[in-house]
Amino acid sequence: MSIQLLFPTRIYEATLRARGAAALNQRLLRECRQLRADDAAGQRWSARNYPGGYTSYGSAHRMQELSPTFAQLARSLDAHVARFARALDFDLGKRRLAMTDCWVNIMGPGAVHGLHLHPLSTLSGTYYVRVPAGAPGLKFEDPRLERFMAAPPRRARSARANRPWVSITARTGGLVLFESWLRHEVAPNTQPGERVSISFNYSWF
Ligand code: NI
Repeated sequence: MSIQLLFPTRIYEATLRARGAAALNQRLLRECRQLRADDAAGQRWSARNYPGGYTSYGSAHRMQELSPTFAQLARSLDAHVARFARALDFDLGKRRLAMTDCWVNIMGPGAVHGLHLHPLSTLSGTYYVRVPAGAPGLKFEDPRLERFMAAPPRRARSARANRPWVSITARTGGLVLFESWLRHEVAPNTQPGERVSISFNYSWF
């Protein structure tokens, strides 16, 4: 007999290790906080849509075009995105995956990021600028969940690949990539410190 694994959902994890990565991270942290201080539209948007946190998603969402520091981050991410696209066997023809959006998220204590996906893009991901010990990771949902119907629940100790929800630990300097249709969320930040991340989208059209 054989049991085959088909239609897998891939999650890419890496650490930014390029030369100067630690210095880049420091500059990013400074700029993320400076952006929050300067971005009145983002502060208003966040007060309505992101209680306890700040995001530039609704205001400054092309940071790679506004800041040389974010542009440097984007260049580092390009290589990881290309590697992930190869692992997914994407046939892009003459096109290439390009970063379309890049925005800042700062989650204070109690801030939560509800279940969502990233419409109109191909690959998405997050780079973690600052993660206090114990702050939440990125929780993914099995994209087949709505079709499970009479499928039994999984054992509490089931294999990781069989679980309907899987959390990836967030680590300072780490990055996570996923296909943009995959729903995900961030549980409430229970830690006193701020969890700072930069999210981004890549598209091939
Ligand atoms: Ni997201």
